[in-house]
Amino acid sequence: MTTTAPIRVTRTAHSQLSQIDFANLGFGNYISDHMFVADYKNGAWETGEVVPFGPLPMTPAILSLHYGQAVFEGMKAFRMNNGSINIFRPQRHSQRLNQSLARMCMPPIDEEFFIEALKAVIRTDEKWIPSSEGSALYIRPVVFASESRLGVKISDEYKFVVLTSPVGPYFTKPVRVKVEETYVRAAEGGTGFAKCAGNYGGAFYPTQLARQQGFDQVLWTDAKEHKYIDESGAMNVMFVLNGKLVTPKLTSSLLDGVTRDSILTLSESLGIQKEERKVSIAELEEGFKNGTLTEAFGVGTAAVVSTIAVIHIHGTDYALPADQAASFQQRVKQKLHHLRVGNEADTHGWNYII
Ligand code: COI
Repeated sequence: MTTTAPIRVTRTAHSQLSQIDFANLGFGNYISDHMFVADYKNGAWETGEVVPFGPLPMTPAILSLHYGQAVFEGMKAFRMNNGSINIFRPQRHSQRLNQSLARMCMPPIDEEFFIEALKAVIRTDEKWIPSSEGSALYIRPVVFASESRLGVKISDEYKFVVLTSPVGPYFTKPVRVKVEETYVRAAEGGTGFAKCAGNYGGAFYPTQLARQQGFDQVLWTDAKEHKYIDESGAMNVMFVLNGKLVTPKLTSSLLDGVTRDSILTLSESLGIQKEERKVSIAELEEGFKNGTLTEAFGVGTAAVVSTIAVIHIHGTDYALPADQAASFQQRVKQKLHHLRVGNEADTHGWNYII
């Protein structure tokens, strides 16, 4: 149950806004002045409030630190050409957050409460929304177990916090990825589809090894046979193979990416046939050899559409053809941009304008 009382806002007396270099944002380097914080106690979410960003009082015994009940979302708000603020697909993010919460035995957050929280914090820090193409206000809702106790149990108390951060592109150049055949991100039946913190923590070590070998990201394969592509940790992946847009179909070990869904939906209007199916490493290798694999790219809220330049398979670096202005990935990236800033009609009802 949630209340619908108005959300109180306490403004900071020490804004950091003047310190931000909007021409060189990078990703996740800055956190805006304010955050939304709500508590879950006695079986209900409290209204919550917007307060200056800063430390939260809690003990080192909070259950999320020990047993991992922590889930988050990654979303973006855009400054539109007419000056309005657009939160992209908050309803879809709310659905996914609730799927993650359910998997981790955490209480749901209803859509109205979720969107009111986003609106309150984004309005308070609206000056932090960058407007140059490729930049956005990244929104990071996070929910974690806050009950202070060491017994192994489902927490009875939680915090729901929304942080925001002005961001530029996640990757500054085309990425090199390594097909992972030793380590596993997620197995079917596990938590791979949920956006829970542990999925990311577990990926750090194999990703660090891949970085030491000169790669930016790991291309995860299925846990059983290491034969089929899953995703790439910070993003879903797509290929243009034999002239078709091909992407791994969703399973319980893949994140149901909102950008993935948006691009699949837009593909029709861009005149390309789509296939959601198992994608094997063998067919990627074959596609490189016979020239039918013409594009590979990562898609995600943070990554948007990120060109993959090289895929490392069984010890060989396979290079994709250089990305062209007329490529599918460039066209869909432009379409998404135009739609989100209001240059193009939002025929799918994805823009939530506040
Ligand atoms: C996102 O794309 O929003 C993500 O959460 C991926 C990564 C930054 C953790």
